[in-house]
Amino acid sequence: MSKEKKEEMVVTPWDVSGDMDYDRLIEQFGVQRMTPDIPERIAKQAGFKHLQLRRGIYLSHRDVDWWLDEYEKGKKVGLYTGRGPSGNVHLGHMLPWFFTKYLQDAFDADLYFQMTDDEKFVFPYNLTLEQTVANGYDNALDVIACGFDAEKTHIFSDTEDISHLYKIALNVAKRVTYSTAKAVFGFKDSDNIGMIWYPAMQAMTCFLQSEREGANIPCLIPAAIDQDPYWRMTRDIAEKLGYSKPAQIHAKFLPGLGQGGKMSASQPETAIFTKDPPEVAENKIMGAFTGGQPTVREQREKGGDPTICSIYAYYYFLFEEDDGRLVELENDCRSGALICGDCKARLAKVIGRFLVDFQEKREKAKDVLDDYFLK
Ligand code: TRP
Repeated sequence: MSKEKKEEMVVTPWDVSGDMDYDRLIEQFGVQRMTPDIPERIAKQAGFKHLQLRRGIYLSHRDVDWWLDEYEKGKKVGLYTGRGPSGNVHLGHMLPWFFTKYLQDAFDADLYFQMTDDEKFVFPYNLTLEQTVANGYDNALDVIACGFDAEKTHIFSDTEDISHLYKIALNVAKRVTYSTAKAVFGFKDSDNIGMIWYPAMQAMTCFLQSEREGANIPCLIPAAIDQDPYWRMTRDIAEKLGYSKPAQIHAKFLPGLGQGGKMSASQPETAIFTKDPPEVAENKIMGAFTGGQPTVREQREKGGDPTICSIYAYYYFLFEEDDGRLVELENDCRSGALICGDCKARLAKVIGRFLVDFQEKREKAKDVLDDYFLK
């Protein structure tokens, strides 16, 4: 299948589209390129190398080496990630959460998980506050179903748990000028002032554990790279507040089931949501864009191209744990031994089973929701 002309890459905290060029992003954002020693050091603590580390899902970071140094010196370390509860959770959102769970186990770290029901209200999503708050509690079930440790995980709602957060956010806000906010986020005069305040809330969580425990605890944020502007701003002021700069490890975006682009809730037919009935998800997979030829005969003759195939991407990012079998899949695709229909049907089954299991965990999470919320 011929590749359409490249779409321009846009990566901001609010808009991610086009063909990703991670090399260019690393340069644009001024972040550090991943080096092979970092996955090794993480794996050493974990006892195994996570699929996402083996597959290069984390291409860049800021100061992860420092965060690991601190841990290796015997210091307690912490983790922070979050979710903007604009609707239902899909696999793309969960990609860094699965990895965060692995880091929590490996480093015995507390996780602060921010539900930004304020953000999704003040930004132009057309959602009421009632909706974003309710989404936050609903999305927390997905977080819990990822297997985080109840004792060490603190989910919180920006609006409902504000008494724990407001003072820290004020300390952040006081040290960030409007001109910095404009330069970092591109705010316009017509934007509402809720949007301009919000970055103080996202930054604040970097210091939440330290504040609560009365110690400077190194914070690592696993998240997709589009959130980086927030951390750039936070790192500039951290030391003025008496804290270390937070470290980041940046995940690539999970592709959608269409041609190019990341998985996006605004294109539900190309995204797999945790609440999708397995048959619905299976249908989406059977209709996905592949790297295959238009006919079976051509596929047998010429083979397919896994590098542009959304189905292959799912095996690669999430669903083929075994590296040997992944190579086999790739070879069988390129040689034409494997045809797209069979490859899709196999993935549809795997994802169907995943969803049945995940939905069960999600149901069970309802009974323990309280245990996970910040107290
Ligand atoms: N702004 C993020 C979003 O729109 C939500 C978020 C808040 C977040 N804190 C975070 C994401 C920390 C990653 C890490 O989804």
